[in-house]
Amino acid sequence: MREVTQVLIEEEKVAARIREMAEQINRDYEGKKLHLICILSGSVFFACELAKYIKVPVKLDFMRVSSYGNSMSSSGSISIDQDLQFGIDGKHVLIVEDIVDSGRTLAFLANMLSKREPASLRICTLLDKPSCRVTEVDVDYVGFEIEDLFVVGYGLDYAQKYRNLPYIAQLELKED
Ligand code: IMP
Ligand code: MG
Repeated sequence: MREVTQVLIEEEKVAARIREMAEQINRDYEGKKLHLICILSGSVFFACELAKYIKVPVKLDFMRVSSYGNSMSSSGSISIDQDLQFGIDGKHVLIVEDIVDSGRTLAFLANMLSKREPASLRICTLLDKPSCRVTEVDVDYVGFEIEDLFVVGYGLDYAQKYRNLPYIAQLELKED
């Protein structure tokens, strides 16, 4: 199989949208402190870029979850491979995710983290594939809604490849 990538959302467009999202977050969290939870590894690029433009005090924490393995479709089972370093009790928590597909990962995470009694818990994602939703999940900030495509770049991978592309690309597997 040959892997073919095609630009879907250009670098400049991604950067501009992230700044807009940060401005919205700045308005919504004015006077508060924010606990940003970056979901490893896919959200690293997005979380760092977003955090650069957030003006309220930010504490960054990381969580590693896996759901996909090396395939192009969600396995449906989610495992926590690395938990947060800091407690979130009484904190304003914003989960930063790369993409919402079936919604299973975020529904699971939001449910798990809400039990730790944060003052508030919201979700921010760079990409959303609403037509793929299997489990309902409330997403508060969405960068771009996209069709049911497999995308890579800006942190998103296929079998750990393409994360470092500075734009979002569609990935297709073609017969040789
Ligand atoms: P969900 O649990 O089905 O919503 O899947 C969420 C996770 O699957 C994301 O955090 C990504 O890591 C991965 N994922 C979903 N769609 C894509 C895609 O198009 N490209 C790369 N990874 C994806
Ligand atoms: Mg992810």
